[in-house]
Amino acid sequence: MNIKRVCVLYFSPTGGTEKIAHLVAENLSEKLNIECTFFDITQPKNRYNEYHFSEDDLVVMASPVYAGRLPNKLVPEYKAKIWGEGTPAVPICVFGNRSPDESLRELMILMEDNGFSIVGAAAFAGRHAFSDQIGAKRPDENDLDEIAAFTSKVVQKLTDNRKMFLKIDHSELGAYYTPLKEDGTPAKFLKARPYTDADRCIHCGLCVEKCPLESIDINTMETVGLCIKCQACVRCCPTHAKYFDDTDFLSHVAMLEKNYKRRAKNIMII
Ligand SMILES: Cc1cc2nc3c(=O)[nH]c(=O)nc-3n(C[C@H](O)[C@H](O)[C@H](O)COP(=O)(O)O)c2cc1C
Ligand code: SF4
Ligand code: SF4
Repeated sequence: MNIKRVCVLYFSPTGGTEKIAHLVAENLSEKLNIECTFFDITQPKNRYNEYHFSEDDLVVMASPVYAGRLPNKLVPEYKAKIWGEGTPAVPICVFGNRSPDESLRELMILMEDNGFSIVGAAAFAGRHAFSDQIGAKRPDENDLDEIAAFTSKVVQKLTDNRKMFLKIDHSELGAYYTPLKEDGTPAKFLKARPYTDADRCIHCGLCVEKCPLESIDINTMETVGLCIKCQACVRCCPTHAKYFDDTDFLSHVAMLEKNYKRRAKNIMII
């Protein structure tokens, strides 16, 4: 293998996936002593064009986990826009301390179908977009050590040049995770969207700029299009004007805060 650059692509509405994607890619580029190129596909304008990679690239692709799978509204774009040509790749999923469930296998299959050869894959825990109490302070020192060990093994495989690629299980993927309320019954918040406190909003337009689906009206600051509950608008608002008041959504967040404070383990396949 003659890898000439490390390329990292990520979709990251609230920055957790971006942070881990950078750590993995920078570790790899340092160890391989080659340049690292970043492609942030969070904003729609960066998802208009296709991305094509060659066999001289090493591609790290990172996605957040939504309902135990890849974000379903993004999957068609991942499938249509990101192409390899026997390109070695490292799929990374970032989950909010509950579980990555089937997301990592979904990303491995998607990338293999699109012309990539999977060297190693990992799901790392990060802060949950819904609450600062879940996955707080991840990635921590332990995670940094695990990322360093994982990337060393990837580099070792690339330099050894043997038994390089993983054999991916292509069997049918499990269902999306059903979010639960505090009482253990399903939380139904598909139609929930954030509202704007008019007394707090200073019309800075940041939420409009950050929404990965361009769903926020620039005049009213209200969500008028599809909402994937990513929390980008809530977290970027400088005056905390954005809020969700959907009772099922809030009950799900309370359930997560009650049951998922323990430190979830990372998953590394190499
Ligand atoms: C709609 C939605 C669904 C999520 N579902 C899960 C899940 O099933 N398991 C989990 O551990 N974390 C889940 N999370 C948490 C995210 O995977 C985690 O916060 C991730 O770091 C968000 O990425 P970002 O910071 O790059 O936006 C979910 C977050 C959102 C917004
Ligand atoms: S409106 Fe919905 S999709 Fe857009 S940033 Fe806010 S939470 Fe995300
Ligand atoms: S980010 Fe907050 S303050 Fe700025 S326009 Fe949006 S809601 Fe208003």
